[in-house]
Amino acid sequence: MLGNFSYCNPTKLHFGEESLNYLNEELPLYGNRVLLTYGGGSIKKSGLYDQVIDILKANGKEIFEVPGVMPNPTVEKLYEGCAIARENNVDLILAVGGGSVVDYAKAVSVSAWSDEDPWEKYYLRMEDPDNRIIPVGSVLTMVGTGSEMNGGSVITNHESKQKIGHVFGEEVFPKFSILNPRLTFSIPRYQMVAGIFDIMSHILEQYFSGVDDNTSDYLSEGLMRSLVHSSRIAIANPEDYEARSNIMWTAAWALNTLIAKGKSTDWMVHMIGQSIGAYTDATHGMTLSAISLAYYRHIMPFGLPKFVRFAKTVWDVDATGKSDEAIASEGLARMEAWMREIGLVMNITELGVTDDMIDGIADGSFVMEGGYKALDRDEVVEVLTASR
Ligand code: NZQ
Ligand code: ZN
Repeated sequence: MLGNFSYCNPTKLHFGEESLNYLNEELPLYGNRVLLTYGGGSIKKSGLYDQVIDILKANGKEIFEVPGVMPNPTVEKLYEGCAIARENNVDLILAVGGGSVVDYAKAVSVSAWSDEDPWEKYYLRMEDPDNRIIPVGSVLTMVGTGSEMNGGSVITNHESKQKIGHVFGEEVFPKFSILNPRLTFSIPRYQMVAGIFDIMSHILEQYFSGVDDNTSDYLSEGLMRSLVHSSRIAIANPEDYEARSNIMWTAAWALNTLIAKGKSTDWMVHMIGQSIGAYTDATHGMTLSAISLAYYRHIMPFGLPKFVRFAKTVWDVDATGKSDEAIASEGLARMEAWMREIGLVMNITELGVTDDMIDGIADGSFVMEGGYKALDRDEVVEVLTASR
């Protein structure tokens, strides 16, 4: 049975090769002072920076900038952006980049006018914003996180070795996001593949939970089939527009709250993955791929019917004459083969995790209880150890 829920996704999407033009429709809806945030230089290299600046100027905007938002944005960088946003009383934050830049823009949007320390308020105490929120818009250049259409914002504190995501409410979702698949052609292969697995992981985290017949799970299966199909085409030819556009669209639906509706969700792979990220600063999607098989093999006995369904519907496993355990294991084996085929990192050692970090990573992994098995600390250590 579907649980009770309310559903609203307020982000307006503009999708396709011409979508950047829609900035001209969006910008007049906000005041004149725009804070442009972006990463370490990819948008300058691609020419996107110049295009966006031209559109901002044509719309009469006064432009302030926070460049250099790093992958896995840090709390120090957040403070820097807050000061610039507040001093200049900006009316809109325009994030041009990947999930890190969009997450960062959301963090600044709720923090700039907060009189309390935002790390403590939002990331340690998980409070909701009760101050002015600056609207955010995005032009997405890297696909995976779903940040373009959700309220998630992940910030890393290297000093305390914590990487924490706050899932904010609708008032913090981007007001609009511009999704042009062509802008993703220049993503380095490592990042593209990490993003593809990030999408897969978002779906798995919402799929492997609950026992009831649920439309959300059918949606998830369709998204996973599309992703696996398109990923193979994109690996062979990263400039295949159809495949890249399908992947971009799947990413948005994988984490915009839709497929979690009416059911419980797991999120343990993300909790452990984020803790690995806090210790290593590794690429997010690779922290997930490195531990997923050990995790899912660990919880498979506790959710066996769903793993059987996954094997049959997502991986076309022929069930004839096989036990449920055999079918479920074959499904995970096929997922493993796909993961190796597209070139994911398959162990945490490759990400820089050393044995002396395992206890700290386990301690930093929040335990979520919505999946088939609430792990205790020893089990988190077991999953990490099996992922070396
Ligand atoms: O900084 P630049 O120079 O732009 O380079 C970036 C960066 O090095 C590069 N890149 C992005 N677009 C490119 C490009 N290079 C060439 N051409 C392009 N078109 O790619 C690198 C990675 O970018 P980043 O934004 O860090 O990647 P991603 O989109 O995977 O974002 C990762 C962050 O999002 C968080 C992660 O934890 C991590 O901090 N997440 C956010 C979520 C959310 N908001 O709901 C959920 C996710 O589970 C995730 O936790
Ligand atoms: Zn993720």
